[in-house]
Amino acid sequence: MDKYAEILAMAKRRGFLYPSFEIYGGVAGFYDYGPMGAALKRKIEDQWRKFYVLGEGFGEIMCPAVTPEEVFIASGHVKEFTDFVVECKKCQTAFRADHLIEETGLKIHQHNKETMDKMIAEAKIKCPQCGGEFAEAHPVNLMFNTKIGVGKNKNAYLRPETAQGMFLNFSSLYRHFRERLPFGAVQLGRGYRNEISPRQGLIRQREFWMAEAEIFFDPENKKHPRFAQMKDVKATLVPNTTREPVEMTLGDALSKGIVKNEALAYYIALTSKLFTTIGIDPARLRFRQHEHDEMAHYANDCWDAEAFLDKLGWVEITGIADRSAYDLSSHMKASGVDLSAMRKYDAPRTVERIAVKPKMKELGQKFKKDAGDVKKALESVDACAIGPEGIELEINGNKIFVEKELYEAAKVQETVYGERFIPHVIEPSYGIDRIFYTVMDHAFSRTKNEEGEEYTTLRLAPVVAPIKVGIFPLMCKDGLDKIAEEIEAKLRTAGIECQYDDSGSIGRRYARMDEIGTPWCITVDFDTLKDNTVTVRDRDTKEQKRVKIEALAPMFREKLGL
Ligand code: GLY
Repeated sequence: MDKYAEILAMAKRRGFLYPSFEIYGGVAGFYDYGPMGAALKRKIEDQWRKFYVLGEGFGEIMCPAVTPEEVFIASGHVKEFTDFVVECKKCQTAFRADHLIEETGLKIHQHNKETMDKMIAEAKIKCPQCGGEFAEAHPVNLMFNTKIGVGKNKNAYLRPETAQGMFLNFSSLYRHFRERLPFGAVQLGRGYRNEISPRQGLIRQREFWMAEAEIFFDPENKKHPRFAQMKDVKATLVPNTTREPVEMTLGDALSKGIVKNEALAYYIALTSKLFTTIGIDPARLRFRQHEHDEMAHYANDCWDAEAFLDKLGWVEITGIADRSAYDLSSHMKASGVDLSAMRKYDAPRTVERIAVKPKMKELGQKFKKDAGDVKKALESVDACAIGPEGIELEINGNKIFVEKELYEAAKVQETVYGERFIPHVIEPSYGIDRIFYTVMDHAFSRTKNEEGEEYTTLRLAPVVAPIKVGIFPLMCKDGLDKIAEEIEAKLRTAGIECQYDDSGSIGRRYARMDEIGTPWCITVDFDTLKDNTVTVRDRDTKEQKRVKIEALAPMFREKLGL
């Protein structure tokens, strides 16, 4: 069994993960989290919130997953959110073209149809199911399609990213944050992608958990106010220029121009710190810059945090993208709603401009009921739109021409306090399920015990361990079990997750706790009856020490930083 299969077998046996809909045969791309898994996932999310909501002061929002299609037409997802697919001419099975190519060990440097077709032909890749030839690659949209309501239905999609909620609510969020940039809004929720042929289990799911932050910056100032705190954080970077890994501080990466702005560098460092906190091995973590043609349609720069997983190699677990003004501009254009921010001047400025004053009587005669809209459009028209014979306007999608006789244009002086602009967005987007699997993979260790049997230890960081303390009475007699139960109740009251276990030998009980990553175990024995102490055993060092019962809760709380 490879490590991935071993981890999944253990995950199922110990209540971390269950394949969804299993009693009906299961469906690829869906997983249920069991009691241990849900707890581990929640603790990873708690740390993410600790960094982003508590640490950064960002606002968490929650938006629907069902989203009307105009949102994704504007965002570009309807047109661009596609994968190249090839179908077998013989058995008609569809495969992702890039996966077929990469599975042969080849690297794709250009993600387009021509490259995919050429590489499949040159490498003589045949259908893995039946050996048939492939037809040409074609793009397939990955969003789940649905309808809102019955009767006159409205087309909708399940969101493929939570990010759009932050863009659509930009104006409210901007007001909430007192109209000051940078500010960030985050969302943690489910995303949906109708993957073509998900074969990597937990890594490529069709319904998955995302934790996304959208941080809005003034494009003239992508400096991060707290970058000084992160400049010495070291990370392994793989820039798209050299494609070679290099370990350096984010401060150096910025000054050498490897990472383009402070905002990106700051969130690379923050991600590295978050991942170390939750137990991802820094030696198996790198930040790889996307190739130009690999970037999502909305991004102009992107660094993926990639984790090395024994069976799967380097896998993207987070993307840190510079989405520039793409999303706000697109939604502003499509909705007609202003999604700009104000850059305030240090002192008010006097400016001269050409003001257009509509002649209402003449406008009324020509445009009748539309005269009000024409007036509004004329009053906000830009000087460069004023032609020698009149002004061309677009009103409700219709082009109209307003002759110069219908308005007066004159120079006016005005006091202005600032200028409007579309903010840029830096987006760290975390794939929670992939991070969950990485935490398991990097913590998983299989060794032989003293009896020569295979022994599994999940060396989870204590902050994310689902159970912090296992509590065992040596025997269920002479009141040892009652004392153990009382300790359990006390620790639970102190906010420490623990599990009472009185079945099997102490060795077996340790083994069960080691396998689910419990960092400490307590044994209540006959000495406890004499001196009120218990044995506390450390999962990793195997060290055992006697501790007074009343000292347990404060000791564990201190270890856990509670
Ligand atoms: N929002 C990032 C992504 O969709 O992958």
